[in-house]
Amino acid sequence: MPRSIPDTALPGGLSLPILGLGTWAMGERAEAADREVEALQRGLDRGITLIDTAEMYGDGGAEEVVARAIAGRREKTFIVSKVYPWNASSTGTITACDDSLRRLKTDCIDLYLLHWRGSHPLAETVAAFEALKAAGKIRAWGVSNFDVADMEELFAVEDGANCAANQVMYNLTRRGIEFDLVPWCRERGLPVMAYSPIEQGLLARHPDLVHMAKAYQATPAQLALAFVISQPGLVAIPKTSDPHRVEENVAALDIALTVEDRRVLDALFPPPQRKMPLEMV
Ligand SMILES: NC(=O)c1ccc[n+]([C@@H]2O[C@H](COP(=O)([O-])OP(=O)(O)OC[C@H]3O[C@@H](n4cnc5c(N)ncnc54)[C@H](OP(=O)(O)O)[C@@H]3O)[C@@H](O)[C@H]2O)c1
Repeated sequence: MPRSIPDTALPGGLSLPILGLGTWAMGERAEAADREVEALQRGLDRGITLIDTAEMYGDGGAEEVVARAIAGRREKTFIVSKVYPWNASSTGTITACDDSLRRLKTDCIDLYLLHWRGSHPLAETVAAFEALKAAGKIRAWGVSNFDVADMEELFAVEDGANCAANQVMYNLTRRGIEFDLVPWCRERGLPVMAYSPIEQGLLARHPDLVHMAKAYQATPAQLALAFVISQPGLVAIPKTSDPHRVEENVAALDIALTVEDRRVLDALFPPPQRKMPLEMV
């Protein structure tokens, strides 16, 4: 049965579900595609509507997997895709978006992100994003792997403050952004999309989390996800190609962490006490 997924507001009036489905490493092998489609569809069946992809993943193959998964139910999904930094010029951004739309078999991407900073001036990329929005090819745009200084630079260019989200690496073992980037985004009503929320699978086997999860009748992956999505303005996009793990990850929505739970997690995975460099994979 689909369930209702809480969401967080995006600047500009849209809303973003707090739990989505990642697709990195999908679309790389033809023989794995059916299972990947099944995993994404399992998420959709359970009410997860947010799917995160990029032109980079599987060289466009992940977007093709997404297209298969959402066929016939595009209107019930929220699709995020990303442009490579070296494509993010005035004209390159438009071409890359058109290519993504073709692979995704849709006429509009809900949220289109600059994957990371490159050499094209931010003003050029922003102008291209705004042109795509005006043409109805994207509904909102944002950035990824931007630290506070990058965000300040972005907000200083024309229309830069129209940025709707920042997608960065964040999980229990990588909490650096809590010191400055999360408060910066929160002050501006900008959601932070946490990628690698399970530390690319490692948190599912982390001994402390394994131990703690037993007391909660939960799994370590669920605790890792609950840690992220229980915070206001944070969104987690775990990736799995396993339909059973999709079910497991969706059930993280049922975990209500208490103040005491957070204290235990802080003791095991201490929050930052000073500015940390933004982490990336
Ligand atoms: N913007 C960026 O620069 C950027 C960078 C990295 C990632 N991302 C996005 O964020 C998404 C998530 O990040 P990620 O893929 O790096 O890492 P992740 O979601 O933290 O972890 C994915 C790994 O964890 C495993 N896994 C998932 N659920 C599990 C569970 N319940 N129990 C045990 N293992 C589990 C998956 O394996 P199986 O598939 O075998 O289940 C996969 O190997 C990506 O797919 C991508 O969409 C964005």
